[in-house]
Amino acid sequence: MDGAIHRAANGGSIRERAGRKPVTPDQPTRHATELRKKLAADLTKAGNLRSKEWRAAVESVPREEFIPDFFAKVDRTDGPTLWDPISAQRSGDERWLKLAYEDISHVTQLDGKTTATDVTEAVDGNPTSSSTMPSLVLRMWEDLEVADGNRVLEIGTGTGYSAALGCYRLGEENITSVEVDPEVAARAGRALGRAGYHPHLIVGDGETGAPNTAPYDRIIATCAFRYIPQAWLDQSRPGTIILVTLSGWLGGTGLVKLTVTGDGTAEGQFLPGYVSFMPARAHNPEPAIIPKMSAESASRTTSLGPEVLTTYGPAQLVAQLAVPEAQHISFGPGSDLPEHILVQPDDSYAALSATASGWIVRQGGPARLWDEVETAITDWRQAAEPGIESFRVTVASDEQRVHIPGGMSSALPRK
Ligand SMILES: C[S@@+](CC[C@H](N)C(=O)[O-])C[C@H]1O[C@@H](n2cnc3c(N)ncnc32)[C@H](O)[C@@H]1O
Repeated sequence: MDGAIHRAANGGSIRERAGRKPVTPDQPTRHATELRKKLAADLTKAGNLRSKEWRAAVESVPREEFIPDFFAKVDRTDGPTLWDPISAQRSGDERWLKLAYEDISHVTQLDGKTTATDVTEAVDGNPTSSSTMPSLVLRMWEDLEVADGNRVLEIGTGTGYSAALGCYRLGEENITSVEVDPEVAARAGRALGRAGYHPHLIVGDGETGAPNTAPYDRIIATCAFRYIPQAWLDQSRPGTIILVTLSGWLGGTGLVKLTVTGDGTAEGQFLPGYVSFMPARAHNPEPAIIPKMSAESASRTTSLGPEVLTTYGPAQLVAQLAVPEAQHISFGPGSDLPEHILVQPDDSYAALSATASGWIVRQGGPARLWDEVETAITDWRQAAEPGIESFRVTVASDEQRVHIPGGMSSALPRK
């Protein structure tokens, strides 16, 4: 169980738990202060923290308040990933506090319900909420280029840590944060209150934004979307900057920075680097169903192997843009199914099988999924394999597109 947390006079926190010797107020507080300073110094050295204002925020906001309990990933080579519950009580003040200030994401909820206080040993599950790694949180706050007095909409409150940093920098009255999960939102609200911040917290689908405190000067999403929700444009004004991770069902992902250019329009670029967030809940696909694959369906050799689906990079994003409704399923050795199958809801499929001399693809259904992927990858290669930072995004009320150097462009899905 979490202990009660009281504010120390200097803004640090002290944990107390029934049945344990009272802790000397100074010790953990001083230790946390040192850890915060070290984190800020490390993030500055790495280039994630670039301004004195955000550095002051990192040095002041106690991350440990937002992760009184979380899951640590258990390294293992076989079986599903396991998640080990961590808290001060279970793991000791020292280990918990040290982990709280490491530059890693801490998972705080599995499968939309389980928190680390619900279990006593490592469990498997799918992460559905977390405190994002500080280097990414701060890189994004810096990329957002806020100015004093800006009003910010954050989508994905999670633990509330990034909202707290925003409150420190811009004032709590200027921060609105939306979280889809009521339990997660309630925990974040309590943590923010303990740390002394009271931003506008909304429980709801971030896709609809937060009209009551609009318009916003900046919009930042800490969960990934397949397209830019229309409401964000409606709740912006010309010049508003939107920072969001665009991702999809083939694993392609990248951080996009857009500037609102007019009524319902925006344009911008993908930013450099690998940025991946858990998808916004409504942007997850329905479970993929493998269609009946006809033995007669046309098969042919293909020089393009499944690495475009399995390796992060611009090619993966190009493939995803070519077949935005497709999902990728892979099968290990011993299965009598092809190693890799692309499927989409209209029962189109492309099945890749390894042979001694390369790959064979068998396609069926109304769309030729692998033909689409091959054409897009061939065009991208002919354009000298540009990186994602050269991919441009345009947003209008009727269409959102990604433009890739070499004259290619793909429409983003609309739902
Ligand atoms: C990576 S966490 C956010 C991290 C957070 N900013 C922090 O500092 O702790 C992503 C959060 O987005 C939330 N989320 C997912 N889909 C959402 C949606 N459609 N609207 C609002 N929040 C959503 C998840 O429940 C999860 O808590």
